[in-house]
Amino acid sequence: MTVNYSTTQSGAPVASDAHAQSVGADGAIILTDHYLVEKLAQFNRERVPERVVHAKGGGAFGVFKTTDDVSKYTKAALFQPGVETDMLIRFSSVAGENGSPDTWRDPRGFAVKFYTTEGNYDLVGNNTPVFFIRDGIKFPDFIHSQKRLPGSHLRDADMQWDFWTLSPESAHQVTWLMGPRGLPKTWRNMQGYGSHTYQWINAEGERFWVKYHFHTNQGVESLTDEEAERLAGENADYYIQDLYENIAEGNFPSWDLYVQVMPYEEAKTYRYNPFDLTKTWSKKDYPLIKVGTMELNRNPENYFAQIEQAAFAPSNFVPGIAGSPDKMLQARIFSYADAHRYRVGTNHAQLPVNAPKNEVRNYSQDGAGRISFNSASTPVYAPNSFGGPAAVEPAVVGGGWENDGELTLAAHSLHAEDGDFVQPGILYREVFTDADRERILATLTGAVGGVKSAEIKERAIQYWTNVDAELGAKLRAELGK
Ligand code: HEM
Repeated sequence: MTVNYSTTQSGAPVASDAHAQSVGADGAIILTDHYLVEKLAQFNRERVPERVVHAKGGGAFGVFKTTDDVSKYTKAALFQPGVETDMLIRFSSVAGENGSPDTWRDPRGFAVKFYTTEGNYDLVGNNTPVFFIRDGIKFPDFIHSQKRLPGSHLRDADMQWDFWTLSPESAHQVTWLMGPRGLPKTWRNMQGYGSHTYQWINAEGERFWVKYHFHTNQGVESLTDEEAERLAGENADYYIQDLYENIAEGNFPSWDLYVQVMPYEEAKTYRYNPFDLTKTWSKKDYPLIKVGTMELNRNPENYFAQIEQAAFAPSNFVPGIAGSPDKMLQARIFSYADAHRYRVGTNHAQLPVNAPKNEVRNYSQDGAGRISFNSASTPVYAPNSFGGPAAVEPAVVGGGWENDGELTLAAHSLHAEDGDFVQPGILYREVFTDADRERILATLTGAVGGVKSAEIKERAIQYWTNVDAELGAKLRAELGK
């Protein structure tokens, strides 16, 4: 017998992969053909639920190298000069299902897992520096409006624009999405952003607020609406294929990581509320500081095991990096690990792609699919008198900020220049080129043109008039044609 014979899941040789046991050649198949039962039962369980958002995606492994000295801002081991850290990235689109075309207009996910010596650090960002909403309680409603109608199971321009126009804080992100960078040519040709304001803590315990920017070394390139539509029909997996083939050919894509750093106290008086996810910080106020370079150099060997089961969580921080008063970030800190427990299982963190490279030591135990466990002599509770693992001092982990202590249901406070339409107006008038302005008008004419309700359409025209009066007037004229 060769060593290459197939086996059952329990390792015994399989008699046939071609024929089920039956009572005579034309007779009934039998329940005691346990290999047939095992094969069909395993097949029925091949899928885990797709991600409720960001279902369609692809990813790769690589290395992040810290090239510059940012140690005065953070003590995080991975961001010390010269340190190289293995990492995983998963790119995605948001609203489409697993299998939907890569080139539909949508934000792109940019989720990075750094396997650091102090635990996994996950930076779960997008290709846009802002987001549609500023309070996590709106997230399920927002996503419902972008997905499908319950009856017809169709996506629907009316509900998209109804939600956006009733949520004016969306204007900055929608301007981004409909603008020149809303349709990246490939995942390799887009920037990545942490989007939220995060906290960095240095070895002296000093705190800073930071925003992350990944700049592509492949150049920012975008598709036109026409190209994207054509590709959506010709090759739904256009981005996945592009990433996979480039890495397979040794053409490794890379991004330089920069941060904007705001001294802790300045958050109180900055002209925009720095914890509002619908706002950016001016680079004139807080210039980009180089941290290092990320290079993707290894394709997954198994898409399901390493990409579908990958579990990224904004709650995965390491010493020297922490959260902030951003309410969206705080909602996300709860939401992702909860999603993983449902989607992948309670022991998702033990799967090879999710497990940290350093040793895990705690008192959690058991649960479906448990892989690793403590030695029999390790106590099963804390505190204990038998030398089991004990927590470090809180200061070693760091994080935290002053809260005003009042329990309230309110939006983030307004700073001097805050307003939902201020930054989208600046983006449209001062950052976009003439060609970009022409293109966004064409894109909006198509997108708002699909709205059936006259009332919602009028509100959408008003929304763009608030972003820029001239844009609103041109859109009204185009829609009237
Ligand atoms: C995926 C929730 C906002 C980026 C997900 C998933 C959930 C979720 C439940 C699926 C996780 C999984 O099954 O593995 C939320 C909530 C938000 C929010 C509740 C608002 C409070 C954001 C924002 C960003 C973002 C602001 C970017 C800045 C991503 C990315 C993924 C994702 C990139 C895919 C991660 C992967 O590749 O596995 N989100 N999200 N989300 N989200 Fe969010």
